[in-house]
Amino acid sequence: MKLEILGLSSHYGRRTVLNGVQVPAITPGSVTALLGPNAAGKSTLLRSILGLQASKGTMTLDGADLRKLSRRDRSAKIGYLPQDVGARCALTAIEVVLLALKQGTGWAVDEQDLAAAHSVMDDLGIRALSERPLHELSGGQRQLVAVAQSLVRRPQILLLDEPTSALDLHHQLDLLGLVQRLARRDGLTAMIALHDLNLAARFADRIIVLHGGKIAADGTPAEVLTPKVIADVWRVQARIESDRDGTPMVVPEGALAAA
Ligand SMILES: Nc1ncnc2c1ncn2[C@@H]1O[C@H](COP(=O)(O)OP(=O)(O)OP(=O)(O)O)[C@@H](O)[C@H]1O
Ligand SMILES: [Mg+2]
Repeated sequence: MKLEILGLSSHYGRRTVLNGVQVPAITPGSVTALLGPNAAGKSTLLRSILGLQASKGTMTLDGADLRKLSRRDRSAKIGYLPQDVGARCALTAIEVVLLALKQGTGWAVDEQDLAAAHSVMDDLGIRALSERPLHELSGGQRQLVAVAQSLVRRPQILLLDEPTSALDLHHQLDLLGLVQRLARRDGLTAMIALHDLNLAARFADRIIVLHGGKIAADGTPAEVLTPKVIADVWRVQARIESDRDGTPMVVPEGALAAA
């Protein structure tokens, strides 16, 4: 499904966090990285799309007003991984994935539900954790279980808020590779908040940079990741190199003084 965000604004009390954010046509089958410094409003933007955060402006899914979708429709179409997955509960990994699958659709769990939960846990390489209580898992294992929750209903739109923050290098590459394959194979539309510019360059088709409540840059990784954007937005001096397949690689050279 095509997601479009036009003139989106959001406030906390008097603090304006998003101020007329324009994100035209996020196309099906693509991975979009949402970048920006701490407190830029990335999580606020993702929560606004989900209706978890009050906002003004236009948001559409395939041209239809997203705000008019029922909560149930919205959660069937959009998978979401919050930034803080926290909750060290006594349920097992498979139980929390089943909870995410069944939300609002009755309590009976049948073979098909179990197969769906197992399949997503297989995709993420965490099937062996099924019977382990969540509070006994490592931080990275818990993060992968939470990703399984966001994927188990096979959503058409996937919003991931810093999904790799607790993952080792191998699992970072594995997870973003999986999202990229789901986009290519199933036409999933993915938007992922990230801090690692090089992971974004490697896996995203499009990079959107949020800064000062607005979109500071929007385009392909090569268009967006320039020394000027990195200096203006992150206050870091960097040079851009290219790896063997032409993917830009950001090499930081030092922090610049505060503006
Ligand atoms: N519940 C809240 N109440 C008041 N202000 C909030 C609330 N949540 C976030 N903010 C403020 O809104 C701004 C944007 O926060 P947000 O969490 O969207 O940033 P972010 O880009 O996701 O940052 P990070 O990279 O640190 O996760 C920040 O200034 C933050 O302090
Ligand atoms: Mg955030």
